[in-house]
Amino acid sequence: MAKRALITGITGQDGSYLAELLLSEGYDVAGLVRRSSTENFERISHIQDRLTLVSGDLMDEVSLINVLRDFRPAEVYNLAAQSFVQASWRQPVLTGEATALGVTRLLDAIRIVDPEIRFYQASSSEMFGRVHSVPQNEHTAFYPRSPYGVAKVYGHWITVNYRESYNLHASSGILFNHESPRRGLEFVTRKVTNGVARIKTGLDTQLHLGNLEAQRDWGYAKDYVRAMWAMLQRDVPDDFVVATGETHSVRELCEVAFAAAGLRWQDHVVIDQAFIRPAEVDLLVGDATKAQHQLGWKCETDFYGLVEMMVAADLAAYEK
Ligand code: NAP
Ligand code: GDD
Repeated sequence: MAKRALITGITGQDGSYLAELLLSEGYDVAGLVRRSSTENFERISHIQDRLTLVSGDLMDEVSLINVLRDFRPAEVYNLAAQSFVQASWRQPVLTGEATALGVTRLLDAIRIVDPEIRFYQASSSEMFGRVHSVPQNEHTAFYPRSPYGVAKVYGHWITVNYRESYNLHASSGILFNHESPRRGLEFVTRKVTNGVARIKTGLDTQLHLGNLEAQRDWGYAKDYVRAMWAMLQRDVPDDFVVATGETHSVRELCEVAFAAAGLRWQDHVVIDQAFIRPAEVDLLVGDATKAQHQLGWKCETDFYGLVEMMVAADLAAYEK
């Protein structure tokens, strides 16, 4: 019988790539989707007929218990969250409910229904915030700088706690920023590549951005979901940093993305205070040595390849 996996956040960027990977590995895949007045399945429409979509919400523990009882997964990947850092200052309580307490609800549902289930938590480099050391690894202290980062620290530690308290096979991937043509339009990479395509095709002339000096370790989402899966195939649960080991500024992102379409970023980018955050994470760069050695993971796509891929995809969409 095929192995069963449940993905929360299957309608999001990572959920769609992880679903593709698990299907290719022969899994029966279920995705938790929350009720909405309009369907939101664009990222999974190409595989929807091979998925079981089940209704539930991280806000509602009963729904999680019922889904686990009905579907009986062997592996659960918790990718659902309010994941946009800037929105977390506007909706700090909701962010805490979904991104922090949602993890406890899901872990507790697993403890009640089937403690043999293997669990993956989507932890984040945003937890490092005002970084204590460069590069960041599994031993670097957390200093979150946003309600989202604080919520992720809670989610991370409750995962460790349930592992230690109840012996659950619970692992956290501390993933650095990862992007793709399926990235939400509000995140800076996609905002820039989509903006480039709109300018190139004459739909816009300007792109409004915030802090150009922030530096991030940007990788490709499709590479990163392989690390999630590899963590749950190990006998022993653990925590792993997943990153490229390279950092680039938002300014460099603009240079590369505009140049990919034959444009000069200085002619179009406008600094707009609306996108400056109350507190910033200035520099992230990860050390994924542990994941490389223990998971056999490596990143296949570099920053330049990623940005060019995203510009090409956005241009193709507008040209069509
Ligand atoms: P994303 O595209 O924003 O997807 C988030 C998913 O969570 C969506 O499917 C969303 O459903 C779902 N969701 C939100 N609130 C929910 C709730 N209350 N109950 C059930 N589902 C809910 O995020 P992503 O980029 O794929 O990231 C996946 C996970 O990794 C997130 O936890 C994120 O915080 C974390 N992470 C991401 C990165 C990165 O760079 N991408 C790095 C580190 C960690 P709807 O479609 O209905 O909104
Ligand atoms: N979104 C956005 N929009 N960011 C901007 C803009 C803008 O107009 N201008 C500058 N930035 C800067 C932000 O201030 C931040 O320093 C950087 O670009 C990256 O912002 P985002 O792409 O929104 O990502 P993030 O780093 O805040 O958060 C992402 O990565 C985390 C992992 O480190 C999200 O995917 C989180 O869910 C994830 O945990």
